[in-house]
Amino acid sequence: MTEVILIPVEEWGGDAVHFLYDLLAQRRPEVNISHKAMPSFSQHEAFCASKPYAGWWLVVPRPLFDGAGRAVFQVPVGACYITKMGEIGIQISRAHQRKGYARTALNTLIEMHKGRRLLANIAPGNEASRKLFEGFGFKHIQNTFELEQHGNAEKNA
Ligand SMILES: CC(C)(COP(=O)(O)OP(=O)(O)OC[C@H]1O[C@@H](n2cnc3c(N)ncnc32)[C@H](O)[C@@H]1OP(=O)(O)O)[C@@H](O)C(=O)NCCC(=O)NCCS
Repeated sequence: MTEVILIPVEEWGGDAVHFLYDLLAQRRPEVNISHKAMPSFSQHEAFCASKPYAGWWLVVPRPLFDGAGRAVFQVPVGACYITKMGEIGIQISRAHQRKGYARTALNTLIEMHKGRRLLANIAPGNEASRKLFEGFGFKHIQNTFELEQHGNAEKNA
């Protein structure tokens, strides 16, 4: 398995917010059911500061070691979270997809939450995500329908 570590967003420092904003900008509406409009950077900062998830991590390839044996952290390749309800979300930046990062991150999340009910909300057209979660034994249990009304986009941003 591709080696990654999950580093809590709050431990990474200031540029985590910028990295997460760039990641958000890569999301396509057809694969994303929770986020419709791109927020402004200040809205995004406020969202990050609100501690929106029970756990939120950057997905970072395992550190390399320099000549003196010091760990040199690499740049994050994605992010993942779990809500209080046990809903998991994972996103890997486009440049790093299909290298096994999401599989390893999901495996780590499952190990961290053994015995819990774990869920994934997946948009109908998101085949990559469906295959990823089904590969770990997640079963399709419901379809959720939404009535789009004026104001929904702002609430979900
Ligand atoms: C879904 C996503 C997280 C997968 O990340 P990834 O690091 O590329 O996935 P991995 O390389 O670990 O692939 C693991 C498995 O997922 C499935 N998968 C990943 N990308 C796929 C694609 N484009 N098409 C079909 N299956 C895919 C495959 O089953 C794959 O196993 P395989 O390589 O042996 O076929 C990534 O495509 C992504 O960030 N998408 C946008 C955000 C998103 O939709 N997140 C999910 C919401 S919960």
